[in-house]
Amino acid sequence: MKIIITDSYAASCREAANLLLSVVKSNPHACLGLATGGTAQGVYPHLVEAYKQQLVSFKEVRTVNLDEYIGLKPDHPQSYRHYMDTYFFDHVDINPLNTYIPSGSQLVQPEITNFSRILEIWPRDVQLLGVGVNGHIGFNEPGEVLQAGVHVATLDEATIKANARFFASEAEVPKTAITMGVGNILQAGKIVLLATGSQKAAVLQKLLTSDEVTTQVPCTLLKLHRDVTVILDRELARQVG
Ligand code: F6R
Repeated sequence: MKIIITDSYAASCREAANLLLSVVKSNPHACLGLATGGTAQGVYPHLVEAYKQQLVSFKEVRTVNLDEYIGLKPDHPQSYRHYMDTYFFDHVDINPLNTYIPSGSQLVQPEITNFSRILEIWPRDVQLLGVGVNGHIGFNEPGEVLQAGVHVATLDEATIKANARFFASEAEVPKTAITMGVGNILQAGKIVLLATGSQKAAVLQKLLTSDEVTTQVPCTLLKLHRDVTVILDRELARQVG
C-alpha cells in the first residue's frame, strides 16, 4: 500500500486528482470509478480545471459511481447523480451516456442487474474512494459478513448521522442505498482512497497500522488489493500515529 501524506486537505485533493488525470492522460478511453461525499468533493474542481486548461479531455472517458441513495430521484439535490453533474460532468466534455450512476429511483432488482452488467463491461482502471467514520467503503457497512457484488445496503446509524449534514434533518437521510460490493471495489485496476478529518483516524489506524483484515472495518479489505494509494493530510496522519 502506498501512503501519501500531504500538507492539507486541499493538497490531498490535488494529489488524488493528479492520479486520476494521469490515468486519463495515459489512456483517453479510461474508465474511472468515482465517489461522492464531502471528501471527494474537492477533487472534481481540479479535473474541471485541467479540462479548461486543455490539459485533458474526457470525451472518450467512462465513469461509474460507487453508489446511490434508494428513493432519491436523479434531480434531488442530495442524489449522487445531481452531485456528479454539479461538481464534474456539467463542466467537462464527457458524454453523459458514458457516465453511470446507479439509479435509486428505478425498480431495485433490475437496477442491481444493470449495475452489475456495467461493472462487467466497463472495467475500471482506477477507483476513487472516501471512507466512512465506521470504515465503510461505498456503502459496505461493518458487519459479520460483507457482500462481494452489487446490493442494497441498509445504512448504519453512524452513516446516517454523518450524512445528516447534507440534509435538512437526520430523518430525511435515506435508510438504504444501492452500492458496489467489496468484490466490485477490489476489481478496479488501482484504488485511491482519500481521507481527512479526525473522525476518520480510528478506521485509518486499522487500515494503516495493523495487518488485520476485518469485515467490521470494511476499508481493511483494501489490504487484499495490490495497487492501493491512501492520501491523507498531515493532521490526520498525526492522529493515526
Ligand atoms: C460516497 C461513498 C461513501 C463516502 C464516505 C465518506 O460515494 O461511497 O463511502 O466516500 O461515506 O463520506 P465523506 O467524504 O462525506 O466523509
